Amino acid sequence: MTTPDPADESVLVVDFGAQYAQLIARRVREAHVYSEIVPHTITAAEIEEKAPTGIIFSGGPKSVHVDGAPMIDPDVYDLGIPVLGICYGAQLIAHQCDGTVGRNERGEYGRTELAVNTESGVMLDGTPETQTVWMSHFDAITDMPDSFQVTASTPDAPVAAFENVDRGLYGVQYHPEVVHTEHGQHVIERFLADGCKAEQSWTMASVIDTQVELIQQQVGDEGRVICALSGGVDSAVAAALVHKAVGDRLTCVYVDTGLMRKGESDQIVETFERHQKIELIHVSAADRFFEHLTGVTDPETKRKTIGEQFIRVFEAAKAEVVGAQFLVQGTLYPDVIESGTSDAAKIKSHHNVGGLPDDIEFELVEPLRALFKDEVRAVGTELGLPDEIVWRQPFPGPGLGVRIIGEVTPDKVAILQEADWIVREEIRKAGLEREIWQAFAVLPGVNSVGVMGDERTYADAIIIRAVTSEDAMTADWARLPFELLDTMSSRIINEVGGVNRVAYDITSKPPGTIEWE
Ligand code: XMP
Repeated sequence: MTTPDPADESVLVVDFGAQYAQLIARRVREAHVYSEIVPHTITAAEIEEKAPTGIIFSGGPKSVHVDGAPMIDPDVYDLGIPVLGICYGAQLIAHQCDGTVGRNERGEYGRTELAVNTESGVMLDGTPETQTVWMSHFDAITDMPDSFQVTASTPDAPVAAFENVDRGLYGVQYHPEVVHTEHGQHVIERFLADGCKAEQSWTMASVIDTQVELIQQQVGDEGRVICALSGGVDSAVAAALVHKAVGDRLTCVYVDTGLMRKGESDQIVETFERHQKIELIHVSAADRFFEHLTGVTDPETKRKTIGEQFIRVFEAAKAEVVGAQFLVQGTLYPDVIESGTSDAAKIKSHHNVGGLPDDIEFELVEPLRALFKDEVRAVGTELGLPDEIVWRQPFPGPGLGVRIIGEVTPDKVAILQEADWIVREEIRKAGLEREIWQAFAVLPGVNSVGVMGDERTYADAIIIRAVTSEDAMTADWARLPFELLDTMSSRIINEVGGVNRVAYDITSKPPGTIEWE
């Protein structure tokens, strides 16, 4: 299935191996232009076919001078589409358009003072003569041909910003996309408004209109669709979008895998039937999942086993929804990236992407595939979904299965459900639900010696995990108040049988991931 263009006006972010490619795409969307990331191997002809309003070259870890440095098809410069190069992207423009990229004696990393020339050009117009920018480079552009105007410099980057308005070529050595760069968003906005003459009219409402149209095209007038409802915000928003597109040709299926949080199944069915008013089939399939998980300890095998059983349950549910050939999934952009693409390394098989079996009998409908979680929440709100759905904390498709290390059994799930309930209840009571991206318990399958009521114990440990994040691509461990951790710890030990120790996970992402498996 090819994905039709999601917007009339778009900016392609060409990825040269940057850490910040997604961030650039976000900043462009914040400036109301739809944006997506493409690999640097894209040809000029492929770009022309996509007809973007503008192109942004991302940064990257290489030097333009080394063998194998990622390049771009030079015909891109003749397409008449404005290009903004950031860091490596700016050096690449210089390198390919007769400028000089020098190998510096020393690089610039972090906070740097930028001096803006009196003739500040398009991008820096209206900004102060000196401003703080965020740098991360070793090589530096030392010279540009006369047709380019040099608009700013720093102590170690004589050409820190340049532009050639006639050719539509712009470059900045620093990172306008990071929050530490003053006036960074201004640079992106000016590139879009003046450089690209973009209308900047893209909004979450446009996402809805466009996606509804795309879903209608994909499903046709007769197609019947089922939606895998997990209880999380993603599948709820995906279901609401598809419902808007195809009405009662959509049936939602909620599979109780036995790996859900305490009380979750009842809550989902209740909330969903009340708010969404969409036909819902509730399948209790815990026995099947536990049976297939017997003896499975490897995290990837576990994910794939759960993914496969999900699909088998859906295939069985298909009999109830006669003729359903489409399956909606709430796959998000970070799921796609972390499950591995041609450019990005595979971190783990996200249940709704890499965890699917190859012989799946459905055509997938994934209307949120290009969005980040906060954008999905905005779409959900725009679609009128209530806060209790939109602001639910994310919960992974494989459920508690990836929070139990080693074999998953009903007994272990029962322990984890109770501990997890306490963690979430205390977060809720402390009013931290929105501030914390996710807070949950993990059962590491480790026993330790303890003493309770003068008796020796040898029982399970529970790990509390709470993180803050903007989009799950990176996360930091939450600095929860000690008193709160104390309450969680005593409640877990007192109320959950078989647990004698509680630890708090203080690992950020990277190097950890949010889930333990
Ligand atoms: P990690 O553990 O990769 O998680 O840092 C990032 C975010 O994704 C959620 N997650 C999943 N969501 N299917 C999902 O729908 C999955 O297989 C899956 N694995 C992790 C995780 O809870 C976190 O919010």
